[in-house]
Amino acid sequence: MTEAAVVAKGKVYEFTTHSGTETVGIGRKLAGLLAPPQLLILRGDLGTGKTTLVKGIAQALEAAEPDEVTSPTFTLLHEFDGEREGQPIKLYHLDVYRLESERQLETLGIDDLLGDDALVLVEWGEKFKSIVKRATGEIAITATGGNARKIAVTLKS
Ligand SMILES: Nc1ncnc2c1ncn2[C@@H]1O[C@H](COP(=O)(O)OP(=O)(O)O)[C@@H](O)[C@H]1O
Ligand SMILES: [Mg+2]
Repeated sequence: MTEAAVVAKGKVYEFTTHSGTETVGIGRKLAGLLAPPQLLILRGDLGTGKTTLVKGIAQALEAAEPDEVTSPTFTLLHEFDGEREGQPIKLYHLDVYRLESERQLETLGIDDLLGDDALVLVEWGEKFKSIVKRATGEIAITATGGNARKIAVTLKS
């Protein structure tokens, strides 16, 4: 698969990985391909590697060392300053697993995050209609046995 193919709109592209390190590598690759602004839902059961993928994206954008990217399950939102093709980029990493209502979600102000230079990655974003509606795509991770993961990237626009 060529890298250009990965960003084609309205299609699903799949990768398979066999370790966290490999998933970080896919994240690094995706970082170069996802032109902001993007609001992407990260789907997948607990422990499938959503946060791990964000580590790779953050690393490639020189926004954070992998160690600095942790699950925002309790803090809800982590913000990083990065760079892509010489342009500043804002990386927002959210985890809305613990949020229970659209009302609670509103306090996060996701709409305000999606500026021109923003890459907004939302773990469990599929829980909320308002996020699904605004999403520019999704990355779905499925455990397929042992450490194997299928990573499917779909961009709407
Ligand atoms: N192929 C893989 N891709 C991603 N993570 C993997 C893989 N194989 C094993 N792991 C491990 O699974 C865990 C995924 O954790 P994490 O990224 O926090 O998941 P999530 O954010 O989806 O809950 C990590 O401990 C990671 O090392
Ligand atoms: Mg996580």
